[in-house]
Amino acid sequence: MQANVAKPRYAGTKIQKLTYWLLYCRPGFEQDCAQDALRQAQQQSPVIVAQPPPILANSGYAVVALNEQALSYRELIFARQLIRLHQTIKALPERDRLTPILAAIATLPGTFGTLWLEVPDTNEGKTLSAFTRRFQPLLEAALREQGKLQDDIKLPRLHIFFPDKSSALFGTSDLHNSAASIMGIVRQSMPAEAPSRSTLKLAEAIEVFMDRSEQTRLLRQGMTAVDLGAAPGGWTWQLVKRGIRVTAVDNGPMKGILAKHPLVQHLKQDGFKYAPRKAVDWLVCDMVEQPSKVAKLIEEWFAAGLAKHAIFNLKLPMKQRVAALDSALNSIRTRFDNEGINYRMLAKQLYHDREEVTVFITRTKN
Ligand SMILES: C[S@@+](CC[C@H](N)C(=O)[O-])C[C@H]1O[C@@H](n2cnc3c(N)ncnc32)[C@H](O)[C@@H]1O
Repeated sequence: MQANVAKPRYAGTKIQKLTYWLLYCRPGFEQDCAQDALRQAQQQSPVIVAQPPPILANSGYAVVALNEQALSYRELIFARQLIRLHQTIKALPERDRLTPILAAIATLPGTFGTLWLEVPDTNEGKTLSAFTRRFQPLLEAALREQGKLQDDIKLPRLHIFFPDKSSALFGTSDLHNSAASIMGIVRQSMPAEAPSRSTLKLAEAIEVFMDRSEQTRLLRQGMTAVDLGAAPGGWTWQLVKRGIRVTAVDNGPMKGILAKHPLVQHLKQDGFKYAPRKAVDWLVCDMVEQPSKVAKLIEEWFAAGLAKHAIFNLKLPMKQRVAALDSALNSIRTRFDNEGINYRMLAKQLYHDREEVTVFITRTKN
């Protein structure tokens, strides 16, 4: 750790080497992101950092310092990306950013397979991205010449994150423990036929939670699904486009091609009271309700064996967001354990999520 990364002081007598992690997140969720990461670390061993790095509100990123704990990207809810932070420069000269940046990279051990220049997902970040676009080919050429950047996608990625005009944070990500998209954002283009932008949320959830083989295995033509809170039909559209038959439950109208689609049965009923006569493959749910109420609903469906897989949203309250989320997810875990249900559950605040988190559950055999 060099340059201007805050010098840690250690609690206790044993001097410990700290690892700094840079996490990208939705602006406004920096505290939640850091809290979530620290909680994951605490589950392994106590986190002892006398002076934790400051969290900047609405910055779109957080830095956390850990002693020996590792973080698992997949298990982090609010982090869009997980980067091991090696160095920070805080006074980049505007006229020549290349020289200090090359000098900083020269001190990093090893070589890299990819160079990602990244900015926060904020208005300032949008302005800075004009600079990173211009700078990328220059820096790449210089790093190739020095042998620091090689055409080998198995090598770690080098990230340079520019939180503002004059700072740069240097880090690396492990290809097996990070997001595979720049800035950790899975961008989706809006399908012309889909009746609402919410469709992008389910499309992103499918990409983020399932690898290609799982997508092929779990989303097959001829399967059945129930969509609770379906109108106007963005999520239903993602399912019918894969040949899945959907019961769409909502008092509101289904729109566009979904108003009269052969694979869609629209029921104007209360999603909290509806139950299918026969079990379905998928339950998806986008009803705006308290997370505890949605969690209970999911528990009932799985306990009754009504669905094998689910994707649903948990709307976050204004305050105590991590606590409300923990309580909803723990309620599901406890109930499933009591019922002897084997499952895998992942939760993420997706790029297309606002004040909410998307959860994926799939029943497993053992
Ligand atoms: C965010 S919108 C869903 C958007 C939808 N996923 C899409 O992609 O177009 C929430 C929907 O939940 C419905 N909803 C809320 N409470 C409900 C309930 N108790 N039963 C059925 N639908 C409900 C609302 O009518 C609204 O259409």
